[in-house]
Amino acid sequence: MLSDRMQSALNDQINLELSAFYTYLSVTAYFEEQGLRGFASWMRHHSNEEMMHAMKLYDYIHERRGRVTLLPIGEPPHNWATALAAFEDALRHEQKVTAAINRLVDLAREERDHATNSFLQWFVDEQVEEEAVVDAVINDLQRIGDFGPGLYMLDRQLGGSEVESGDTPSAT
Ligand code: FEO
Repeated sequence: MLSDRMQSALNDQINLELSAFYTYLSVTAYFEEQGLRGFASWMRHHSNEEMMHAMKLYDYIHERRGRVTLLPIGEPPHNWATALAAFEDALRHEQKVTAAINRLVDLAREERDHATNSFLQWFVDEQVEEEAVVDAVINDLQRIGDFGPGLYMLDRQLGGSEVESGDTPSAT
């Protein structure tokens, strides 16, 4: 059985992952509006991954005979000045998720909940990758600056990339 404190913390993490899903879906809609279909496709894939993370936590709580409690999700931002600003927002979100995962690991260790500690290691590794893929696109966008053809090329590349686990799409 999960402790009440751990169960509550895992439910909070489900909420954070669903907030990430919602935020990235909003970023996806922004890219669609901007006609950046490659960026939209990339971000949509990323938002789906957040849903998968939430469901992984959902399944784990049930496996441990715990109770899932779904909490409200706040309204995400709808507009960004540039594609770079949208990706910088995404990176901030990832860093927030990473900090939350680290706190969960600390709690699992404090409670000597070895099963939850082991379960969370997948998320620790995943966050390293998640931050890296977003950061790679930010680096590309910073290099491109206001150069329109560069943005067009990156949009084409992101749209064509199969963004599976381990892939780090880059314009270079
Ligand atoms: Fe599930 Fe991108 O954090």
